[in-house]
Amino acid sequence: MELLLRLCLALILVGASSALNNCTCATNKWTVCAQGGSGNCTCTLVGSNHKVNCSTLTSKCLLMQAEMVLLKEKHFWGHPWELLDNDGIYNPDCEDSGMFKARQCNHTNTCWCVNTAGVRRTEKGDKSLNCGEVVRTSWIYIELKHKKRPSTFSGSDIANALKHVLESRYQLRSKYIAAIKYNFPFIQIRLNQKQKSRCDVDIADVAYYFEKDIKNNSIFHSNSTLPVSVNGHALDVEELQIYYVDEKPPVFCMRQLLPDVSTMLTVVTLTAGCGIAGLLILRWLRTRKCKKTEMTEMDEIRAPSLQLS
Ligand SMILES: *[C@@H]1O[C@H](CO)[C@@H](O)[C@H](O)[C@H]1NC(C)=O
Ligand SMILES: *[C@@H]1O[C@H](CO)[C@@H](O)[C@H](O)[C@H]1NC(C)=O
Ligand SMILES: *[C@@H]1O[C@H](CO)[C@@H](O)[C@H](O)[C@H]1NC(C)=O
Ligand SMILES: *[C@@H]1O[C@H](CO)[C@@H](O)[C@H](O)[C@H]1NC(C)=O
Ligand SMILES: *[C@@H]1O[C@H](CO)[C@@H](O)[C@H](O)[C@H]1NC(C)=O
Ligand SMILES: *[C@@H]1O[C@H](CO)[C@@H](O)[C@H](O)[C@H]1NC(C)=O
Repeated sequence: MELLLRLCLALILVGASSALNNCTCATNKWTVCAQGGSGNCTCTLVGSNHKVNCSTLTSKCLLMQAEMVLLKEKHFWGHPWELLDNDGIYNPDCEDSGMFKARQCNHTNTCWCVNTAGVRRTEKGDKSLNCGEVVRTSWIYIELKHKKRPSTFSGSDIANALKHVLESRYQLRSKYIAAIKYNFPFIQIRLNQKQKSRCDVDIADVAYYFEKDIKNNSIFHSNSTLPVSVNGHALDVEELQIYYVDEKPPVFCMRQLLPDVSTMLTVVTLTAGCGIAGLLILRWLRTRKCKKTEMTEMDEIRAPSLQLS
């Protein structure tokens, strides 16, 4: 009798573990998945009990939370704190919907306001800082530089290849891809989303997934490298920069801005690039006053090396 019971238990365990192997989250590897009694696979974000919808992208805010949990674990096990600062990652406060809360605070009660991409857009303050509604990031510019190769790609081949990846891999609707421009060896992708419906993926989430893919740290469960091939040739990206342009200009006071201009603008780089931040500093230095600085058109402040338009 007891033997039978043990056998049953063992069978159940084997069944459970093989089911677990099957039950994974295709769009988010930073999850813990389990098969419920009804056979449904439910996945929650690591370090929280937030349920993840594995048929669409996870929001950037939730992804950053998961990354911080994993970073802390890594730190605990004696690995270096490598991602921090580098990527502008912090432990964000998210709404239940997964969106960034307008105001983000530090463990030291330093607070700042962010846009829908989670990027700081105001000076830092204390707990009394009031951010109001979260400001929408309506444009995202992704700038890539591909590795040296003997000949230039065709602009339309590049555009078609990237458009296909954006639409199929990240589920971005084509109407949000404003332009893809190519000027050997630079590529610029312009995403524009003034409003989004509940079912659409957010361009900020697409940019985050794309960035991780380019950096060989894909968030997708299958860890394949980003499959961008242009006419059968792999597109090897060696530089990446992402710029966020909000509906409303960010509010910075020059005095406080200078030490950390880069936090606001060049949030993401693969290799050190300071063209745009540099230009901005020059512009602001010329005014020499502490007034609210407005950034409206990215085109105005483009670095000479990246003239793509
Ligand atoms: C679960 O895994 C088995 C092999 O381990 C496979 O045959 C089966 O199709 C998988 N089921 C699902 C739903 O993926
Ligand atoms: C399991 O999935 C089915 C269909 O996908 C759904 O109707 C059902 O409510 C789910 N059960 C649970 C417990 O989530
Ligand atoms: C998950 O996302 C898909 C694609 O956006 C959507 O159709 C589906 O309703 C979502 N499921 C839940 C449970 O929210
Ligand atoms: C968090 O607080 C520390 C200590 O005050 C500060 O140095 C750091 O810049 C803050 N982080 C952010 C993202 O503001
Ligand atoms: C990512 O992997 C590819 C192929 O292994 C390699 O060519 C590329 O340089 C890597 N990129 C980074 C940023 O490590
Ligand atoms: C997944 O990516 C990590 C980090 O780049 C790499 O070390 C690992 O070998 C990859 N695994 C597979 C199965 O490709």
